[in-house]
Amino acid sequence: MKEIKRIGINTGGGDAPGLNAVIRAAVLAAVGRGWEVVGIRKGYNGLLDTTQTMPLTRDTVRGITHLGGTILGTTNKGNPFSYPVRQPDGSIRAEDLSDRVLENFQKLQLDALIAIGGDGSLRIAHDLHLKGLPVVGVPKTIDNDLESTVITFGFDTAVTVATEALDRLHSTAEAHERVMVVEVMGRYAGWIALNAGVSSTCDVILIPEIPFDMDVVCQKIHGRYETGRRFAIVVAAEGAKPKGGELATTGEKEAGRQEVHLGGIAERVAQEIRERTGYDTRSLVLGHIQRGGTPTTFDRLIALRFGAAAVRILAERITGVMITLDPPKVRSVPLAEALSRMKSVPLDCDTILTAREIGVCFGDHL
Ligand code: F6P
Repeated sequence: MKEIKRIGINTGGGDAPGLNAVIRAAVLAAVGRGWEVVGIRKGYNGLLDTTQTMPLTRDTVRGITHLGGTILGTTNKGNPFSYPVRQPDGSIRAEDLSDRVLENFQKLQLDALIAIGGDGSLRIAHDLHLKGLPVVGVPKTIDNDLESTVITFGFDTAVTVATEALDRLHSTAEAHERVMVVEVMGRYAGWIALNAGVSSTCDVILIPEIPFDMDVVCQKIHGRYETGRRFAIVVAAEGAKPKGGELATTGEKEAGRQEVHLGGIAERVAQEIRERTGYDTRSLVLGHIQRGGTPTTFDRLIALRFGAAAVRILAERITGVMITLDPPKVRSVPLAEALSRMKSVPLDCDTILTAREIGVCFGDHL
């Protein structure tokens, strides 16, 4: 690999609080080494159309550590290997535009790319690396579902927001003697539901790793009402599903997007509780509020450490890797290894054991 003088940075996939902190640390660490930095806008779009780039300097990254979102913009529809292109007849067809990404990378005179993203964006980074583009990945996701890092930034903020919302729902649920069923994000992993649910003392936590039985859920709720605690809070991860049942999806499949959109489990569960128990029951979806706004101190610090580490790794001429947190160290692992497995909640983990011991029901048994 030749000497590094100029690097690109992009952010891809769903945003996560802490992205701007990564960008700031990476830019300052790079500029401090005398490198130039180019911001690639909206995932890989800036490498498909070079007008979608911006210089990143000390000035452009001033005062952004605490800001949510990303100054570079992001998208989860822009996979250059399968890019939605409108055809002359008006239809949309997926085309492989990855060669254009490599050409523009040369045209912009970049020596390496720091790709900040979740599993989808990092898979694209890995495929581009296999085609010869030097890349270092920085893991980002509020879902915390990447195996080779102890934690990703954004997760702590999402759990904090969800915990506060669940805390607030206790008083209104109690006032009305209601059951509240709250849907949180996390895709196929139950980390947000588990951590927020235990921290805010929910009565029932439904996660994808433990298929639930509605009889058990209703018995648990009924038990509370019978013993005078005439309200209940249920938190459901969006990927939770009943034993032998299906995932709840919105049915939307946007062009250029690989994954289905999850959503609707809270209302499904609420409806069943209403029908089976007769208790007044409401459902709500926390949605993107979990990803918005200021990152927690914890997320900011991890994000800053990841950004600076990505530049340090590049300075050692190491590419094709992803930054990981392996306490107390931040180090790197090969992208191929990092993306090989999803991190689910282990059923014997301490948080699950603790939850069961303090009376939380996971819908499998009382
Ligand atoms: O992966 C992050 C995440 O927030 C998931 O928890 C959620 O399922 C998904 O993104 C939502 O995606 P979108 O931003 O497209 O609605």
